[in-house]
Amino acid sequence: MRIVVLTGAGISAESGVATFRDADGLWEGHDVTQVATPEGFAADPDLVQRFYDERRSSLATVEPNAAHRALAHLESADGIELTVVTQNVDDLHERAGSRNVIHMHGQLRSAWCLACDERFAWDVPLATNPACPGCAVPNLRPDIVWFGEIPYEMERIQQELLRADVFASIGTSSEVYPAAGFVAIAADAGARTVELNLRRSRMSAVFDDVRQGPATKVVSEWVAELTA
Ligand code: OAD
Repeated sequence: MRIVVLTGAGISAESGVATFRDADGLWEGHDVTQVATPEGFAADPDLVQRFYDERRSSLATVEPNAAHRALAHLESADGIELTVVTQNVDDLHERAGSRNVIHMHGQLRSAWCLACDERFAWDVPLATNPACPGCAVPNLRPDIVWFGEIPYEMERIQQELLRADVFASIGTSSEVYPAAGFVAIAADAGARTVELNLRRSRMSAVFDDVRQGPATKVVSEWVAELTA
């Protein structure tokens, strides 16, 4: 059985990572246009670098939860081919043991050099404006897909959606495209679709099956059903 899972901030919420849309459209006290757009970065690079530096360093204080672990377990189950497409920029899927993960919105633990266009595994601050490990030019930015930029690996994701038997959306508000449109692509191609979220989302009506509850509970139960 081929399964594609799309995850959003809700799967990491019980690990203590803040979601995006739970506080008046502010994201940890900032307007998203300030910290999640190329224009915001151009206007105040130091603020944006410090914002992502803080989030990167806070990864050390959080742990994967039962929902991340359930998906890692699902990937290792006999007869299952699982692809996790995540909108999250944390590394909790990998730390739980998932291997086949696509970070469509980038990753905190990666830096992108605007001079040589290379990407590097990154664990230290960028606000100090360090030299690129490849070309030595100090012009690195967070490797995060901001509003107005094109998500990563869209072709591969499209292929996976078209051949999926099951598509599951976990912990996402389905407010942001293209991810919000994945359910329709998978359903049109014949997949069974399930939404696992704390509350109904903008897209709930499109799914075959909608299950509400905290990810640690509903994802664990869903995986147990699939692997029984
Ligand atoms: P949101 O903050 O928009 O939505 C989080 C969803 O998780 C909401 O629907 C909550 O109801 C749900 N939720 C909260 N706690 C939960 C729990 N314990 N268990 C299950 N569900 C829970 O986050 P995303 O949908 O991930 O993009 O946001 C999508 C994109 O918007 C992000 O990737 C980011 C942001 O702008 C970029 O940075 C490019």
